[in-house]
Amino acid sequence: MATMTSLIGLINKIQRACTVLGDHGGGGMSLWEALPTVAVVGGQSSGKSSVLESVVGRDFLPRGSGIVTRRPLVLQLHKTDDGQQEYAEFLHLPRKRFSDFAAVRQEISDETDRITGKTKAISNVPIQLSIYSPHVVNLTLIDLPGLTKVAVEGQSETIVQDIENMVRSYIEKPNCIILAISPANQDIATSDAIKIAREVDPSGERTFGVLTKLDLMDKGTNAVEVLEGRQYRLQHPWVGIVNRSQADINRNVDMIVARKKEREYFETSPDYGHLAHKMGAEYLAKLLSEHLEYVIRQKIPSIIALINKAIDELNAELDRIGRPIAVDSGAKLYTILQMCRAFDKVFKEHLD
Ligand code: GDP
Ligand code: NA
Ligand code: MG
Repeated sequence: MATMTSLIGLINKIQRACTVLGDHGGGGMSLWEALPTVAVVGGQSSGKSSVLESVVGRDFLPRGSGIVTRRPLVLQLHKTDDGQQEYAEFLHLPRKRFSDFAAVRQEISDETDRITGKTKAISNVPIQLSIYSPHVVNLTLIDLPGLTKVAVEGQSETIVQDIENMVRSYIEKPNCIILAISPANQDIATSDAIKIAREVDPSGERTFGVLTKLDLMDKGTNAVEVLEGRQYRLQHPWVGIVNRSQADINRNVDMIVARKKEREYFETSPDYGHLAHKMGAEYLAKLLSEHLEYVIRQKIPSIIALINKAIDELNAELDRIGRPIAVDSGAKLYTILQMCRAFDKVFKEHLD
């Protein structure tokens, strides 16, 4: 278990290395794309950003009614040693450490506006954020704009299709694990999340069904049929979630309190008591982390092949410029090459 956890830490390091490699041509991006990620999909206001926050265990995402998430957010969680100070870092603001998560939320919002303007438009250009904390599991998560059925005032006619295409571009990759968010107070048969997930992952092997807003269901109804997998079967178990309500958000109910409330909700529920140990955000985080580890282990051979391709390309480029270590670009490439070699070595050790 400890080894697998460090393996995911390694993947996160490689993903950062690949972002650097990506600046230097083909090899880097394909390596990035070979690695598994988790993307959150669902209708607008279904609770996508709330679920991500709960999995992370921190308040840092812009949330609320309406179209809040307008650019993809690529979020890397890095588990650090107990007692370490947690902080966040944006790729577009290198070396600036955020320890105030309200400031992270503000920066996501500002950076969204920098590209889209203060409109309701969306953009394909991702925002990349890393969080270092002793309280997270190692995961790469992607928050995506919500699927809609109609354009609203101020949006282009093509927005419905544009969002769908953007979401599909992330989740159609075979190595993308799909967190399909459906609100329990809407008919699961009409769920946008399930519809698009089924399209790209018909067998359901990489789709996790998440049912939010259980607390908002009509009195006298429950979601046991869905949660027990009888209404819509997936290969992984459905997880029910109770996120903070808008009133909770307005009252600044914090994460610890929200998680405790969620646990109590399930433990004391006459409908879900028997499922309590398989419900809630913490359980979902654990389930995801385990699955990710499983997927990564299967991918090690192909990752080694990609790293070796990158090493060959870097060697060729260094030969071409004649290895002038003192020259900036040569020195940078050389550093990347050494990093790749180190990764290759560690990966090969993990294969044994
Ligand atoms: P997104 O648009 O899918 O990212 O959804 P958000 O996470 O921004 O949530 C939209 C709204 O629904 C917010 O006001 C949340 O407080 C509320 N919400 C989300 N999940 C739940 C839930 O499980 N229960 C309740 N009562 N409200 C929720
Ligand atoms: Na929203
Ligand atoms: Mg959102």
